[in-house]
Order: sequence, then C-alpha cells, then structure tokens
Amino acid sequence: MRILSGIQPSGALHIGNYFGMMQPAMELQNEGEAYYFIANYHSMTSLFDADQRRKNTTAVALDFLACGLDPAKAVFFRQSDVPEVTELTWLLTTLTPMPMLENCHSYKDKIAKGLKPNHGLFAYPVLMAADILIYDSNIVPVGRDQKQHVEVTRDIAVKFNMQYGETFVLPEPRIRAEVSAVPGTDGQKMSKSYDNTIEIFGEEKPLRKKIMRLVMDSRPPEEPKPDADQNIAIQLLKLFAPADLAQQTEDQLRAGGLGYGDLKKTLFEHYWNYFKKARAQRAELENNLDHVNQVLKNSAQKARALASTVLDRAKKNCGLS
Ligand code: ADP
Ligand code: TRP
Repeated sequence: MRILSGIQPSGALHIGNYFGMMQPAMELQNEGEAYYFIANYHSMTSLFDADQRRKNTTAVALDFLACGLDPAKAVFFRQSDVPEVTELTWLLTTLTPMPMLENCHSYKDKIAKGLKPNHGLFAYPVLMAADILIYDSNIVPVGRDQKQHVEVTRDIAVKFNMQYGETFVLPEPRIRAEVSAVPGTDGQKMSKSYDNTIEIFGEEKPLRKKIMRLVMDSRPPEEPKPDADQNIAIQLLKLFAPADLAQQTEDQLRAGGLGYGDLKKTLFEHYWNYFKKARAQRAELENNLDHVNQVLKNSAQKARALASTVLDRAKKNCGLS
C-alpha cells in the first residue's frame, strides 16, 4: 500500500494541520510505503515572496521531522525536486473539464476571501492530481477541506484510463472524522489564511495569549452551559488532554461553576505540554540543518525514480513516446 500527502509551505503549521493531516500521516508511515512532501509549487499560487517561501519550506521540514516523521520510514521531499510532476500536470489538464475546476470549493472560498485568482490557483487541483497519481498512491491522508480535490483526482484518473488505457491507480482520501475540521480561535475552521491559528511551535507568551483570547460568550461562570460540547476550548482540550479529564471538564462547564478563564488556562497547560518533546526535538534539528537538507535531497532521489516510471507509462499510453 502506498500512502501520499503534501502540505504547503504557506505559513507556520498549526494544530489543525497537525491533527487533520500530520498525525494521521505519521501513523500511516508504519502501515505502508509513505511519501510526504512540501508542496512548494502549490504555495506559488498564493505566496509571492521568494525568501519567505524558502524560510517556510525549512520551517515545515523542521516541524514535520520534530513531530515524528521518520525519514527511515517515509520518503520526505520538496515537491519541486520532482519536476516530472509538472509534466504530468500538462497531460492531465487536457482531460480536465473546466466546470470541474470551477466547482472546487477551495477555489471559490479563496476568491470569496478576496484572493486575486491566477491561472495557477484555478489549475491547482490538477497539479495536486499529478502529485497523487505520479506515485501510484492508494491512500491520501488529508483534512476534510481536501476531500474534493482527491475526488477530482479520481475523476481525472478515470478519464485518462478510459481514453488511453489503464494507466493510473485510483486513490482514496483518508479522513479522520473526529479531527476533520479543527476549530480556530474564532470558531471557524482553523486555517493559515483566516488568521485564527494556534501554531504547533512558537514562543510561549504569545501562544498563551492567543489561547486566553479564544472567543467565548458573556455568560457568567455559575450559569449552566447545556451546549458545553460546542465550546471551542472544550473541543481543543479533547485533542490534548486524556479523554476522562476532558470529559470531566466538559461536565463541569455544563453544570456551571467553571469560568472561561480557568478553562482556557487548563487548555493552555495541556497544549503546551503536548508538544514538549517535539519542541526539544525541533531545537536540536535547527542546529543540524545540513542533516535536514540531506534527508530532503536523498528522499527526492527516491521519489523521482518512482515518478519517472509512472510518467513514462502515461506518456507511452497517450502516444507521446
Ligand atoms: P491551511 O488551511 O491552514 O492553509 P493547508 O491547506 O496547508 O492548511 O492544509 C494542510 C493539511 O492540513 C490539509 O490536509 C488540510 O486538510 C489539513 N488541515 C488544515 N486545516 C485544518 C483544520 N482546521 N482541521 C483539520 N485539518 C486541517
Ligand atoms: N492542497 C493541499 C493543501 O493545501 C496540499 C497538497 C498538494 C496535497 N498536493 C497534495 C495534499 C497531494 C495531498 C496530496 O493542503
């Protein structure tokens, strides 16, 4: 079984990325051949600062490795170190109906948020399809917002297989229901583009502040809260604290008597503690960037070897060679 996923270096990674994609991806590295990459080509659709892209790319590599991605098990590389993927993208674009891309939520959401669409942003799902198909991937661990892109990938693969003969493996998304959309500090889905994130790594003080500023209502502590399970801090606490403790806290909030300030303090402690080991690991890796770069380079060689066999197969089947 081959598992593949990618993450854009478009900003600091947050706990939505962690629970929605990174943690499931790291668990899957023990269950098959895992290919994980930093989607730096994709980041070009919305980030236009070269230096920032370079910095973010290193940060994503450090974050992922510190959180437990094991380069002895998973192939971990930069998307642009496998340029074959852009050639496959062209082959796929010619079989991608315009309305399929026009219907993509992610594209529509970004435009609605005021992002000026470029052709790359529109064609983004086709590059993503090439990412997935070029490694004959079976399973794609992602958060819920990426499900439609994996469906687009399947549709394009089916069209190609029908038109040019059996070429691509059909992938399946792997989405964890309980963490498919981690809420941000404002209650919307947490996202780098909504300015509502809680980062995995960062300085203690500003992160504590962010958590203490989680948006709550104005009901007094003693008032019972029948909707305690909807509270953002409770939802986040469930990610970090042992299940019985999180449940106890939720029951207390429901019954009345637990103030939001105390609840947020409890949340912060568990969150901060949760990434303690990873923080130490990250500090160590930061002093060893040569090793990190070497991992990315070696992995890219492996990824490239596989990608070129699949690209050759596709080119042969559609009459290019
Ligand atoms: P962002 O929305 O912050 O830009 P990305 O689009 O780079 O995040 O997503 C990287 C991965 O993390 C994807 O698999 C995505 O589904 C997942 N992800 C992002 N935000 C969340 C969230 N709030 N809850 C669960 N998964 C998420
Ligand atoms: N579009 C994904 C995101 O924003 C990143 C990505 C690019 C990806 N290529 C991929 C994810 C291939 C899974 C498989 O999160």
